[in-house]
Amino acid sequence: MTRDVRPFVAGNWKMNGLSGSLVEIEALRRAADAGEAGVAELVVCPPATLLAQAAWKIKGGKLGLGAQDCHPEASGAFTGDISAPMLKDAGAAYVIVGHSERRTLHHETDALVRAKAEAALRAGLTAIVCVGETRAERETGEAIAVVTRQLKGSLPPGGAPETVVVAYEPVWAIGTGLTPTAIDVAEMHGAIRALLDDIYGDSGAKIRILYGGSVKPANAKELLGIDNVDGALVGGASLQATDFLAIAAAYR
Ligand code: 13P
Repeated sequence: MTRDVRPFVAGNWKMNGLSGSLVEIEALRRAADAGEAGVAELVVCPPATLLAQAAWKIKGGKLGLGAQDCHPEASGAFTGDISAPMLKDAGAAYVIVGHSERRTLHHETDALVRAKAEAALRAGLTAIVCVGETRAERETGEAIAVVTRQLKGSLPPGGAPETVVVAYEPVWAIGTGLTPTAIDVAEMHGAIRALLDDIYGDSGAKIRILYGGSVKPANAKELLGIDNVDGALVGGASLQATDFLAIAAAYR
């Protein structure tokens, strides 16, 4: 926490979780309500099938609820897809867009990610816009250029600190136990901050920039203490409430 913004710690469950996992969400809610999660805004993003049930579990409490993707259109003939207004209706307040798993496995382009982010804003959701370079791009020194290009193409016009969160997730750090050096994270987050200032003017300074990729209780304090790191997007370690809370405790 280096600036005057509320830190943001989100858990992305990806394609994990059946109704039995709602006990983890109940545990997170209890901890958030009891102030055990520290000062951070704590958000959990379970699979879409659990959203409505999770919304009941968190109702009136301090835990936030998010989804993992949305369609750019509000409704229509798009079999299997879920729109931003549907997510809002189910009880979500946030939605992840442009996760590297979707960019890679579903061939999502920057333009599509931007359309999804715009749909999220129209529906009254906060968009968590993900970007990040591959290992090859990092090794050839292109990481900042790649992330800059992704952000220029993916960020929604008219975004604001309340409606946009950026998540920098190096693809090679996701699920691998590898993390960039603190110097590399600081350099990337500094570049993203400068770009947000360019795109959004004064409000760019207050848009939260999360780091994601192998964040664990053991490395959270170091990663979250880096300049311009305003929180974390956590995958594997968010599936158990105890681990996720231990990460958020970096802000206690
Ligand atoms: P891991 O924390 O499992 O590396 O996943 C990060 C991620 O992709 C979160 O969106």
